[in-house]
Amino acid sequence: MAVTTALHLLFLFFILFVSTSISDAKLRVKPHAFHLSVRKDKATLQYYVNLDMGDPVARNPYVNFFDLVIDLGGRFLWFNCSGYDSTTYHPVRCGSKRCKIAKGTHCLNCNGPIKPGCTNNTCGVEPNNPIQQFVVSGDLAEDVICVSETDGFSSLSDIDVPDIDVPHFLLGCVDPNKFGVTGLLDGLANGTRGIVGFGRTQIAFQTQLVSAFKLPNKFALCLPSSTETGFGDIFVGGGPYFMPPHEEYFIGVKSIKIDGKAISLNSSLLSFDKHGNGGTRLSTVTPYTVLHTSIFKALVDEFVKKAEAKKIKRVKPLGQFGACFDPRNIANTITGPAVPKIDLVFQNERTHYRIYGANSMVKVKNNVICLAFVDGGSEPKSSIVIGGHQLEDTLVEFDLASSQFGFTPSLLLHNVSCSHFRVF
Ligand SMILES: *[C@@H]1O[C@H](CO)[C@@H](O)[C@H](O)[C@H]1NC(C)=O
Ligand SMILES: *[C@@H]1O[C@H](CO)[C@@H](O)[C@H](O)[C@H]1NC(C)=O
Ligand SMILES: *[C@@H]1O[C@H](CO)[C@@H](O)[C@H](O)[C@H]1NC(C)=O
Ligand SMILES: *[C@@H]1O[C@H](CO)[C@@H](O)[C@H](O)[C@H]1NC(C)=O
Ligand SMILES: *[C@@H]1O[C@H](CO)[C@@H](O)[C@H](O)[C@H]1NC(C)=O
Repeated sequence: MAVTTALHLLFLFFILFVSTSISDAKLRVKPHAFHLSVRKDKATLQYYVNLDMGDPVARNPYVNFFDLVIDLGGRFLWFNCSGYDSTTYHPVRCGSKRCKIAKGTHCLNCNGPIKPGCTNNTCGVEPNNPIQQFVVSGDLAEDVICVSETDGFSSLSDIDVPDIDVPHFLLGCVDPNKFGVTGLLDGLANGTRGIVGFGRTQIAFQTQLVSAFKLPNKFALCLPSSTETGFGDIFVGGGPYFMPPHEEYFIGVKSIKIDGKAISLNSSLLSFDKHGNGGTRLSTVTPYTVLHTSIFKALVDEFVKKAEAKKIKRVKPLGQFGACFDPRNIANTITGPAVPKIDLVFQNERTHYRIYGANSMVKVKNNVICLAFVDGGSEPKSSIVIGGHQLEDTLVEFDLASSQFGFTPSLLLHNVSCSHFRVF
């Protein structure tokens, strides 16, 4: 008994000791949750955030605000650090604990002068350009980043409460001049400087925030559909939103229904095989949902049949899309054009993600709207990649502790969206 108590005390002491030693002055304020505003780029349809990085008392406070493209599958944050100036930037040494956490793959040296992206004995990581699908070599470093806190009470469109410095934030710094890297940012939205990765790694953006402040290991996205006005949201560690209880969570799509009728598909495509092929994943850098050819064909066929039944006039397909329609005789509703509804059905038959016209159709030109799904060929890595257009105006939450995600029904049903104006 006495021994147990002593061990308990020792254990408690250990916890207290560890937590005080890693919390420095800036960490003393515990934020409720973090918030980032999301914009959508008109040309690429990518979503990006604006992040305040580096020296918090920079000589010019506006030089280190960077636009970074959101990549749900990205392993960490990386950016073009050519010309980056920050007194709080520190390279991470090869072989160090932080290098191991980041799964550093090599060791980098540089023939001076010393600057971000040019230091010796630096842990090398492999930033990935998700659009062009190549990796480059980058320096792992730590710096301060500044993120807005949000309280648990405001509504989605409320103004944020103060900004918080997150010290020792791990990031990838790539100076394209160092190795003569060309096309580092090719395919990324014009004006952006890199990627903010939300993948399931220890150095992903949200993981570093929740572990620094011991917040719940989750984040949520509300992607805006508008490129012109307003902002969407990312909440890390919780936020001023309410998710229905866990029954809404799911991992895999089991069937697809159109106006209630299941399309016929090869169900083995919907689960992951031993090599991790197949299955469903979500992507913010994929504008429209990409389907395995057989699923794509079945979806288009059934959708066209159901549209014909509704006397919707079909027109010649355009671009990458399989079916297009004349919107002039389609009623416009609060959830977009009144076309057949598409349900992605999960394990539990009662749980489905319903896609209404606003998210299933895209206006391609005057008097032509198309079914916004594309053919991914017969051997795609994932059978279904749910793209940004199908995730907009819905609150999607990723619970990393349970590896599941949940969602609200389309916010449009309540006459609200993920594009709102913000006052700074
Ligand atoms: C990287 O940033 C520097 C400084 O802003 C800029 O001159 C250069 O063109 C950028 N490189 C790429 C590949 O975007
Ligand atoms: C790295 O080390 C080499 C050899 O000692 C030295 O010439 C070079 O200037 C160093 N680079 C930096 C950025 O300090
Ligand atoms: C990218 O943005 C710059 C500055 O905002 C602009 O001058 C340039 O034309 C844009 N390029 C493209 C391809 O849109
Ligand atoms: C279903 O898909 C699996 C995995 O791609 C494939 O091995 C199998 O042959 C397919 N079955 C049919 C009936 O097409
Ligand atoms: C939706 O909201 C807008 C203003 O935000 C309002 O003009 C419109 O009447 C509302 N529509 C419905 C169906 O409530």
